[in-house]
Amino acid sequence: MNHMTKAAALRSSALATIAVLAAGAASAQGVEITYVSGAVGNAVNNFDALVAPWEERTGNDVVLVPMPASTTDQFGQYRLWLAAGNADIDVYQTDVIWAPQLAEHFVDLMPAATEAGVLEQHFPAIIESQTVDGKLVAMPIFTDAPALYYRTDLLEKHGAEVPTTWAELQETAQRIQDAERAEGNAEMWGFVFQGNAYEGLTCDALEWVKSFGGGQIVEPDGTISVNNPQAAAALEAAAGWVGTISPEGVLAYQEEESRGVWQTGNAVFMRNWPYAYLLGNGADSAVAGKFDVAPLPMGEGEGATSAATLGGWNVAVSRYGDNQEVAIDLAMYVASAEAQKQRAINEGNLPTIQSLYEDADVLAANPYMARWQEVFLNAVPRPSAPTQQDYNEVSTLFFTAVHSVISGEAEAAEALEELEADLEDVLE
Ligand code: GLC
Repeated sequence: MNHMTKAAALRSSALATIAVLAAGAASAQGVEITYVSGAVGNAVNNFDALVAPWEERTGNDVVLVPMPASTTDQFGQYRLWLAAGNADIDVYQTDVIWAPQLAEHFVDLMPAATEAGVLEQHFPAIIESQTVDGKLVAMPIFTDAPALYYRTDLLEKHGAEVPTTWAELQETAQRIQDAERAEGNAEMWGFVFQGNAYEGLTCDALEWVKSFGGGQIVEPDGTISVNNPQAAAALEAAAGWVGTISPEGVLAYQEEESRGVWQTGNAVFMRNWPYAYLLGNGADSAVAGKFDVAPLPMGEGEGATSAATLGGWNVAVSRYGDNQEVAIDLAMYVASAEAQKQRAINEGNLPTIQSLYEDADVLAANPYMARWQEVFLNAVPRPSAPTQQDYNEVSTLFFTAVHSVISGEAEAAEALEELEADLEDVLE
């Protein structure tokens, strides 16, 4: 080894030592928290910016592990990890319907939330939905209530009003679809929604059933109500959309596929959650500035109403992680007014903190949001409270039955009769 190389070798070994020391110092200061979350819209892209203020304040790091977009698939994965006591994941982003089923695996956030004095900031019903036997299983980070997205330009061009019933929607969608296609717009469809056999279809179909006065599948008192003529009428109506105003492909659509068709300008109407609003007005959207939102249409017959399924996401801390104190601190941050405001402005998510509905920045980013508080306060919960541990099975039976009807494999009345018997087996 000549002199120069020896010096170079020494220098590089010294640098390596410094690097090791530096890494040691960093890890002594902070811990790394692993956070799992579904990947819908821009949530994953925006995540680093969302947690950056917390990372800077605390010197800790958050690593995001993205999950599949389907909440049904996420639930399956979470359940496996939690049942195995997985210590690698500290924080789980959880759907509003999961609290009763996953409660035993999560840390009680009530002491931290009480100490921080933040519970009163949130809508009480949402805190209640995440509380199981007095344990606060998860802190809410946003709520969800769907909208009927409609193309203002197309409605105006074809002299149509915003539909207030499903029959009007079908008529208007068909008329505009036919006229646009006649003008050479071959890809145009009337209505896109979530028709895949997964939790999203439970949400859409609960809206149809409820809007026809057909109840809430299983009522808050535990009565199985789904086998009734109004529910059958609702499902028959939806079955009539597939292949006429909605593409056959809708039977495989989740939120993001519906948004894809909508945002390329190929649908007159779309059922989706508020996250699609800001994205639809984004620079890469063909429908930017050409749409608005309205409450979903009503059904027909006695008890007909406009119905929106209550959705929403929360943050929960695993009992099996090594850094629970830090993870709880992160959870409190992600649920805080500061983070919820960021989410509302960047992703269009509806806050669970009441005062943010009067925040000028939030309202400037989402002009519809003041109107939407009303919609979500009247939203219909899925029957996770009355079915507790069995919710996932109940929902799976429901969306499977609905899918068989809208794909033309079964008659609504028969499918609902069978569903009722299956639900009795599960819930007895
Ligand atoms: C949205 C809702 C969630 C629901 C899901 C269904 O993410 O917030 O509650 O389960 O859609 O796809």
